[in-house]
Amino acid sequence: MRRISRREFVQTSLASAAGLWMVGCPNFGSRTETHANVPPPDEEGYKLWLRYAPPDAKVLGGYQRVIRQVCVPGGSDSCRVIRDELQMALKTLLGLSVQIVQNQDRLTDGTLLVATPATAQVLYRWGIESDLQNLDLEGYLIRTLQHKNGVVTLVAANTDLGALYGCFHFLRLLQTAQPITNLHVAEQPQLKRRLVNHWDNLDGTIERGYAGRSLWRWTELPDKLHQRYIDYARACASIGLNGAVIHNVNANPRILTTEYLRKVAALANVWRPYGVRMYLTANYAAPVRIGGLRTADPFDQHVKDWWRAKADEIYSLIPDFGGLLVKADSEGQPGPKTYSRSHADGANMLAEALAPHGGVVMWRAFVYDHEVDPDRVKRAYIEFTRLDGQFQPNVVIQIKNGPLDFQPREPFHPLFGALKHTSVMAEIQPTQEYLGQAKHLVYLGPMWEEFLQSDTYAKGPGSTVAKVLMGKVYPYKITGMAGVVNPGTDTNWCGHHFSQANWYAFGRLAWNPELRAEQIADEWIRMTFSNEPGMVGIIRQMMMSSYETFVNYTMPLGLHHLIGGDHYAPMPWNDRAPREDWTATYYHRASEDGIGFDRTRDGSGAVDQYHPPLNDIFNDISLCPEKFLLWFHRCRWDYRLKSGRTLWDELCAKYDTGVRQARELHDTWQSLAGKIDARRHREVAERLAIQLRDAALWRDQILEYFGRISQRTLLPQIRQ
Ligand code: GCU
Repeated sequence: MRRISRREFVQTSLASAAGLWMVGCPNFGSRTETHANVPPPDEEGYKLWLRYAPPDAKVLGGYQRVIRQVCVPGGSDSCRVIRDELQMALKTLLGLSVQIVQNQDRLTDGTLLVATPATAQVLYRWGIESDLQNLDLEGYLIRTLQHKNGVVTLVAANTDLGALYGCFHFLRLLQTAQPITNLHVAEQPQLKRRLVNHWDNLDGTIERGYAGRSLWRWTELPDKLHQRYIDYARACASIGLNGAVIHNVNANPRILTTEYLRKVAALANVWRPYGVRMYLTANYAAPVRIGGLRTADPFDQHVKDWWRAKADEIYSLIPDFGGLLVKADSEGQPGPKTYSRSHADGANMLAEALAPHGGVVMWRAFVYDHEVDPDRVKRAYIEFTRLDGQFQPNVVIQIKNGPLDFQPREPFHPLFGALKHTSVMAEIQPTQEYLGQAKHLVYLGPMWEEFLQSDTYAKGPGSTVAKVLMGKVYPYKITGMAGVVNPGTDTNWCGHHFSQANWYAFGRLAWNPELRAEQIADEWIRMTFSNEPGMVGIIRQMMMSSYETFVNYTMPLGLHHLIGGDHYAPMPWNDRAPREDWTATYYHRASEDGIGFDRTRDGSGAVDQYHPPLNDIFNDISLCPEKFLLWFHRCRWDYRLKSGRTLWDELCAKYDTGVRQARELHDTWQSLAGKIDARRHREVAERLAIQLRDAALWRDQILEYFGRISQRTLLPQIRQ
């Protein structure tokens, strides 16, 4: 079969869509199901997981007995935000106009008190302030207390921001229909910097954005401030995200000009009460590009002075500015290497400029200089392990979850657990660049759980990536997680209603990287769709299976980078690109004999970037987990897998299973027609049809291509 171009792919797909649709869902549109209940009213998805829909009558009655009045005594902007959120939420959740008071002397039975030691003396009398001492500035307690006038529900924290997080936790309990009569919660974040990364450009486009244009309206800022900026901050704060890098890592240096910094400061002012701190990306050549200097050499005194002055200016406009994120010497971005300086030299110069203000430098490990090693996935490890210990304390290395580039499945990046003296944070990608973008329902929770629970063995068994990030393996000064997120100007923010779950899950895991994907999915479904147990179970099952489904129909058994163009469609034949390591053939290396990238000790040796015993496990084909088989091994087509099938037959079976699973997703969603509001149901159904169509195209094109190379025929069930 000849190769199919991207354009043809789309056209063929569209042409076949109707057919598949009919096959997949004969009843769609005809509403043959009859439901006793009237379907819920249409929703557009704008409210995300903050819909505050009332629970069923029985639960509601219980809540109404516990909460009749709210007392938030503080006078800060964050306390105002807490009052506004509670007012709005409790009105729709409880159907009551709950009285909100500031005077803590009126703590009658049925009061929800939200307070800090600074705003409520009563916390001292109750001995709560000593419990708060065990918590950090963002932590909180939620307690049911017997007060002299009756039962008080207390949300207490050391700071107003902690209290805001506590309120969102309390609201989550109500939204997910949990009991609230005997609360004893103590929570604090496990990572300090929990940052959304936006790859937004100054012209309003978004690199790898699939949900409209950038949320930031640069031409209107700093004067006009939209409600959407506030709703964005509410969404972030509700899941504990405490910072935003609002500009693309491929950074336009103009973001650092005074004109743009004023605009940025206006956004920072809106977000401050929600605890969302402002961060920016820095183009390393900014001193030349906007500063008029002749060099950006980090050892040049003029360059150092320029960055110091720039840092001073930023902090004069944004006193709580978080820091700078830098993509240097990567994919054409400028960096210290131009001046024969190392990444440490480059990062430290910026760190020194920010240090007097308390700012940090997040230096990305996404570098793959071909001169370092022929195998792309080895390069960052080699460069950064050499420099361990040379970075200033306010530098943190930001590392993608895997050593390549957000592929559907990669082993964890070996830099996790390798840097002993340099803080590291993880970068994950809710925006689904390589995972179906905003067209496919792919819940990334299981993928991130797999990554975070991976054992690095850095200090023996149990040294999971999550523990590394939390600073429990090596005592890092800075801890954090970044997510390249997906919101844009689409009404439902993320393009696909289910893509909202990936923003949500990222925030929850950044708060606590040891949370489980299933629990997060459960919460999100209850808040976004329904608490009805049958529906929760069905949607949770769809979400939890969706990641493996996607891997099966795109890149199973450790295959990776079988794409080109915009990273959506299959392009295994892609053998021409400006760099060899941007092709697909560089990675799969398929020939008549076999397929896969040999990264064993007989090959590129990438296995030895992992600690023992992982290096030996990955190196030994009989021990290597099959999900990473072709990542680490080159195999003959007739290599036998654990299933007893040959590699070729197993590949065929995986792709076919993936398509079957995509059909199941599609059909299962149909069974929910009439139970979910028609608008969201239809919009998701439309995308599931596209997903099913394109899953089949992935299978057909990949197997046709590899079948031709291997000179093998398809399994009979696929041929039919
Ligand atoms: C990927 C992505 C680019 C992005 C880069 C990065 O390669 O396709 O758009 O700039 O990652 O993370 O810097």
